[in-house]
Amino acid sequence: MASGAARYDGHSAWYDQAFSVFHPPGEELAFLRQALGTGHGQVCVDLACGTGLCAQPIADAGYRVVGFDISADQLRFARGRLGAVARADACLLPVRDESVSVVVGMFFHTDLEDFAAAARQVARCLRPRGRLIYAGLHPCFIGPFVDRTREPAERVLHFAPGYDGTGWADRGSGDGSGLGGRVGFHHKTLAGFLGAIASSGLSIRAVREFSGGGVVLPRNIGLVAEK
Ligand SMILES: C[S@@+](CC[C@H](N)C(=O)[O-])C[C@H]1O[C@@H](n2cnc3c(N)ncnc32)[C@H](O)[C@@H]1O
Repeated sequence: MASGAARYDGHSAWYDQAFSVFHPPGEELAFLRQALGTGHGQVCVDLACGTGLCAQPIADAGYRVVGFDISADQLRFARGRLGAVARADACLLPVRDESVSVVVGMFFHTDLEDFAAAARQVARCLRPRGRLIYAGLHPCFIGPFVDRTREPAERVLHFAPGYDGTGWADRGSGDGSGLGGRVGFHHKTLAGFLGAIASSGLSIRAVREFSGGGVVLPRNIGLVAEK
């Protein structure tokens, strides 16, 4: 499978059109707004910013938003929504040590193998007491081991073996979005996901679960971690 860049390159027009209507979802947006507080003109890094769909609430909270993403195609769209964007790997961020108060990461831990390396970069860039605000797909309830496509009609989920199998699932994530089938999906267990943050040296201060449109079980998870 190709690198993170190639995974989204060529899919950005589809991604932006498919997600711009409802992304970020309402509960996650409220969580983001509450965690952001007021920025007073400080810089906030939007890590793996994609096409910039989460930039407006960050700017509305009074931050100067700087977006990084590995996909040039995604950044083509983000440029119109963010003050500043640059192509960079989240695992090798071109940001000075202890220079940023807030990093926002939305829905990217399933798009790269080494989420722990990205978390370490976040920890390095954050000032003391700086915060990571993260939301993404719930490792327990979205993945190649669960089929949620019939959930809305039947109010039932179909689980299969495979939760403990960390790795790329190129046939998609079973969530019905169509995204995983296009760009791949890197499944991590809950322990792998939370462990990546914990091992970076950040302290997890809050964890939330969001329905994300699910009617049986949550689809998304969010957390705030502090340096
Ligand atoms: C599902 S999109 C989310 C984009 C945006 N945060 C949002 O919520 O709309 C995941 C993004 O992660 C980016 N990505 C994947 N691997 C990356 C990496 N190693 N470094 C930076 N960005 C990466 C992809 O290019 C893609 O834009």
